Amino acid sequence: MKHKAPLLAVIFVLLYAFYNAVSKQTLPPKTEKSSTYRKHTQIHHTQHAQEELDRLHTTPYAKEYIIYVINHGSRQFHFKGGKMEGGYVSPKDAPKIACYVLSLSGKQCKKPYTPDAEMFYTSVCGGCHGNDGKGLGGIYPDLTRKTLLGIEERETFLKNLLKKE
Ligand code: HEC
Repeated sequence: MKHKAPLLAVIFVLLYAFYNAVSKQTLPPKTEKSSTYRKHTQIHHTQHAQEELDRLHTTPYAKEYIIYVINHGSRQFHFKGGKMEGGYVSPKDAPKIACYVLSLSGKQCKKPYTPDAEMFYTSVCGGCHGNDGKGLGGIYPDLTRKTLLGIEERETFLKNLLKKE
């Protein structure tokens, strides 16, 4: 028994070394600082940023953005009119209003907007953005510009992100 102890210790050390080598090989360390992890998230971010840039100038993207602003408001620019609160209408009405807004600059959603969308727009949004969507001479954002301001800013942000990586 006495002389078996060193042998067991050697076996234990060898097993531990083997386990260590294998686990390092198969499991990349999960810390933020690990270069494998960083590389992986970088590729991930780059892919997502590129995918978003590819669809940034499409009507469905603009629709999503307008719905977001209707529901959550907008506090990103410096218009004389100030900020915009979210929730003037119920979230269920937001998509049809977004489609009506898009129609003001000749764009169209997959399905045409429903007849009540115009009524919603003129009674809820038109007071600030104007019934034609042009923003009452610059006091409020012009909703008929080719690319909405928020989308333009998002484009700059994503392009900078890709440049850095
Ligand atoms: C009380 C005035 C007011 C009302 C009512 C209002 N807005 Fe706004 N809206 C603003 C202001 C001010 C901004 C810019 C705020 C900022 O981000 O600084 C804005 C921003 C926006 C933007 C972003 C524009 C861009 O170029 O990125 C969209 C889209 C928008 N509004 C749509 C709507 C819609 C649709 C409605 C009706 C549901 C509506 N707004 C109701 C004042 C209003």
